[in-house]
Amino acid sequence: MMMTAAQIRQQFLDFFASKQHQVVPSAPIVVKNDPTLLFTNAGMNQFKDYFLGNKKPVHPRIADTQKCLRVSGKHNDLEEVGVDTYHHTMFEMLGNWSFGDYFKTEAIAWSWELLTEVYGIPKDRLYVTIFEGDAKEGLPKDEEACNEWKKVIAEDRILLGNKKDNFWEMGDTGPCGPCTEIHVDCRTDEERKLVDGKTLVNNDHPQVIEIWNNVFIQFNRLKDGSLEQLPAKHVDTGMGFERLTRVLQNKQSNYDTDIFTGTIAATEKIVGKIYKGGDDKESVAFRVLADHIRAISFTIADGQLPSNTGAGYVIRRILRRAVRYYYSYLDYKQPLLHQLVFVLAAQFENVFPELKAQEGFVAKVVKEEEEAFLRTLEKGLKRIDDMIASANGGVIEGKAAFELFDTYGFPIDLTRLIASENKLSIDEKGFETALNEQKERSRAATTLDTEDWVVLKEAENKFIGYDSLETKADVLKYRKVKAKGKEHYQFVLSATPFYAESGGQVGDKGVLIFDGEEIAVTDTKKENDLIIHFTEKLPATIAAGVEAKVNPLQRKHTELNHSATHLMHAALRTVLGTHVAQKGSLVNDEYLRFDFSHFAKLTEEELRNVEAIVNEKIRANIPVVIKSMPKEEAIALGAMALFGEKYADVVRVVIMDPNYSIELCGGTHVGSTGEIGFFKFTSESAVAAGVRRVEAVTGFAAEQLINTQSVLISEIRELLKNPKDLTKAVESLQSENAELRKRLEGLEARQLVAIRNELLQKDEIINGVTFVGDIIEVSNADALKKICFDLKNNLNDYVAVLCANIGGKPFVAVGISETVAAAKQLDAGKIIKEYIAPLIKGGGGGQKTLATAGGQEAGNLQTVIEKVKGLL
Ligand code: ALA
Repeated sequence: MMMTAAQIRQQFLDFFASKQHQVVPSAPIVVKNDPTLLFTNAGMNQFKDYFLGNKKPVHPRIADTQKCLRVSGKHNDLEEVGVDTYHHTMFEMLGNWSFGDYFKTEAIAWSWELLTEVYGIPKDRLYVTIFEGDAKEGLPKDEEACNEWKKVIAEDRILLGNKKDNFWEMGDTGPCGPCTEIHVDCRTDEERKLVDGKTLVNNDHPQVIEIWNNVFIQFNRLKDGSLEQLPAKHVDTGMGFERLTRVLQNKQSNYDTDIFTGTIAATEKIVGKIYKGGDDKESVAFRVLADHIRAISFTIADGQLPSNTGAGYVIRRILRRAVRYYYSYLDYKQPLLHQLVFVLAAQFENVFPELKAQEGFVAKVVKEEEEAFLRTLEKGLKRIDDMIASANGGVIEGKAAFELFDTYGFPIDLTRLIASENKLSIDEKGFETALNEQKERSRAATTLDTEDWVVLKEAENKFIGYDSLETKADVLKYRKVKAKGKEHYQFVLSATPFYAESGGQVGDKGVLIFDGEEIAVTDTKKENDLIIHFTEKLPATIAAGVEAKVNPLQRKHTELNHSATHLMHAALRTVLGTHVAQKGSLVNDEYLRFDFSHFAKLTEEELRNVEAIVNEKIRANIPVVIKSMPKEEAIALGAMALFGEKYADVVRVVIMDPNYSIELCGGTHVGSTGEIGFFKFTSESAVAAGVRRVEAVTGFAAEQLINTQSVLISEIRELLKNPKDLTKAVESLQSENAELRKRLEGLEARQLVAIRNELLQKDEIINGVTFVGDIIEVSNADALKKICFDLKNNLNDYVAVLCANIGGKPFVAVGISETVAAAKQLDAGKIIKEYIAPLIKGGGGGQKTLATAGGQEAGNLQTVIEKVKGLL
């Protein structure tokens, strides 16, 4: 019987559990605290610090399935996805790790045992590759791996691979080492007889594919390109779960496995078409949707909303690629993807429950993005019509094609297709140039030029800032970093009271004192598990010993806001409902900002209710209890954990009355809630579909806010002559104003009639045309136009030029009856532009029969009238 994907995954984890591995959950797909990565792109990302020796592993052997995304940075497969049948944006990487424990012998033996004995893949379908060595790097052939393989597999199935295929690196710098890959030949027996599988390994054959990579991590790649031996040797493996499932389910395509058939079937139903599984655009579109919906849903569930920058922009681009495919190739013009979120959530409920828990929210975000992009797409199609119309010599300009790509999300192949349908081509070179220019711009804007660490001492860096704000410590290492043209320095200490930005709480500021010289710490951030102090300069001498002092006032004010955030989070759930989940948080010494899932604008009453609860909890002066406990215990207590956050097995729990607020939190807090003093909202707004944002102040800032507001009210009160009821006084002022305005309008209308009648008395006939020209008194320019318009109802063949000096500024209106305009070739708009504008030092325009102008020089109005008269 065919194994299901779920069974295959479980067997992997069970197998390594039986080899004493601890099975851990996937880390979030969105990476925090690592400036070199936006998304998890390999199972080992979350263990990087174990390899580098920055942190001790919780267990020497670990196994898991990790949500990965390879659409940015070093590993980027996006353009392949959907076109072929075995690349993905998001994929699961099954992995087993040894941290300084077992090495090549066990890793190779176990991978063979699992594939051939547990999963039963025929041995004559497997090939392995090993590293052939690299003279330039001074690296020898991996004889050790070769010898291990010889124990289990025929020698002619062990192939040599070069640095590109068989030396694995996470990025430009970082842990790396030689690797051995396992490839499976899935072709039919006939095909296999005809062509030797060995010749197809690593040759992009869709049926001869790599499924597992075993990396032997033993180096750290430094910035200058050299390799440094790591203190210990490690194993890092990654098996493509979707490919493994395809092999075991005997399918020709990953999309024919039960990992994808559910979403494909749902798509078929929605669009009313059948997935044929071929190379045609329609089949590609089905695959693109089945793939992309996974990347989109899981990243949003892990807390990354689509946006215009960074990780959010990557998601937006994937989503747009999907929309474009269903719009163009499945002929579906409405939001579609959001309907698939529910299918996916049910399918992964037991593996990645975070999606099921937030499916309504994720679907809403996706739908809103789709709607917005569908509107852009329509505009883009119109734009392409214009481009086709103006294509020069049958070629669409490269810049124009790039604009379609960049602004409207049109991949170049779509533009190419539309162009060829219109018998046009694209200036491909120009497109490439524009694309490369943009890549260069974004690279320059984001690259960090990071020098290697200068290491003074190897030791763990400890955070002691929960209990103290000052300490003496050793400098472990420091380095120079250039970002956006600015230089700064980073320090890591053996112990530090500086809180590194996380969980929304900003990093501490303060000073490092080196041998009497004070250097300001401008920020503190985490990079993986290192606490990094940012400074703008180096001390004259970097002694090993340093004194670290946090700015206590900044820390204190920040703490008020952080504790208040917890009280407010609980109050929001009480007032609005338990669907409220944190989507973003910022806590600094001035205010707090909190984003959360909720579908409607908060009413004034809801905001007041939340404030009332928070302030009541502040007055109750609840002691803040902070405890460490196993994660399961904390969750059982009812602690709120955040999606997309990575938690250790033992977590820190912050409790403000066990019946009111329990949160998993690494931040710093007040001793008891009374210290917060007072809590006040300052704003409420929308951030994205289904996400609201509130901002609030506490303590001293709240007091200042209230003071400013009450001063303002006093001033207004005084201006209104101290009325008893301020609201009533303003209301009556408003209604009085409305009444006066109405009366004024009535009077003005009457006045205009009077002026018009007066003008009609003064008209003269010139060459058979009635001419009216005068400087009149009106209060606004619009009145001139109105009178001009009104003259039309009373005169037949006429030309009118009406001028006014309003507050020192000249205004002119010219009216010409259609008959005169035609007979005398006169155009009011032209007259204004050519004759009048220069005279009054201004500008204007309008139609043939009515035009107006305004200017700076009011002294020439009589000349204006003569000028127009002269035209007759
Ligand atoms: N880290 C290795 C990879 O991603 C296993 O291929």
